[in-house]
Amino acid sequence: MRDEQDYYFKKAKKEKYPARSVYKLEEAQLKYKFLKSGQRVLDLGCHPGSWSMYTAGLLGENGLVVAADLQRTDIALQKPHAEIHWLCYDVYSAEFVDYLKSHWPGFHVVLSDMAPRTTGSQYADHQQSLALVRRVLDLAALFLHENGTLYCKVFQGEDFPEFLQECKPLFATVKVVKPKSSRLESREVFVLGRGFRRAK
Ligand SMILES: C[S@@+](CC[C@H](N)C(=O)[O-])C[C@H]1O[C@@H](n2cnc3c(N)ncnc32)[C@H](O)[C@@H]1O
Repeated sequence: MRDEQDYYFKKAKKEKYPARSVYKLEEAQLKYKFLKSGQRVLDLGCHPGSWSMYTAGLLGENGLVVAADLQRTDIALQKPHAEIHWLCYDVYSAEFVDYLKSHWPGFHVVLSDMAPRTTGSQYADHQQSLALVRRVLDLAALFLHENGTLYCKVFQGEDFPEFLQECKPLFATVKVVKPKSSRLESREVFVLGRGFRRAK
């Protein structure tokens, strides 16, 4: 297992990504192909920036990535990457919602690799992770286009099935994805919702 993590760490370094977490998105993208040229993508919890860099490369010059995190991120990318706007916001803040509303008409894909600060208590970490992904669902309701895609991290635990039930009516399909690059012993999984149905 340690060798495997070492492998992804070295691969990220060689491919000039700031974090090996990029492969948790790349694996899903290679299989499900939900990121497409020219899209507008919102990346929540983007720091240190690997998912956004990878996404910007796939979207090409006509695409746009809006990337937000509590921590400041600022990586300059060379064309033909999509334009990236690095924002420093707490996703719970009203200012964040106002800023998005005043700048963009919505997004084709919402990504979230957000993780709460771990406390050592599995139960508390699970509950905080659920609070974050529920916030992601609220933001999706505001900003995700009809038929759009959500790919978001969540730490599994006793209330995870309830969260999945909350996702199901919102999307045509909902899958739970566990990428190989995510440690087996970690409770993290990714929920992939496709075909977003905007509530009438
Ligand atoms: C695992 S890292 C993301 C790694 C990133 N996907 C990459 O590939 O570089 C999780 C991030 O979620 C951010 N985060 C957690 N809670 C947040 C919140 N309420 N608002 C914004 N970002 C948050 C953390 O600051 C942290 O940088």
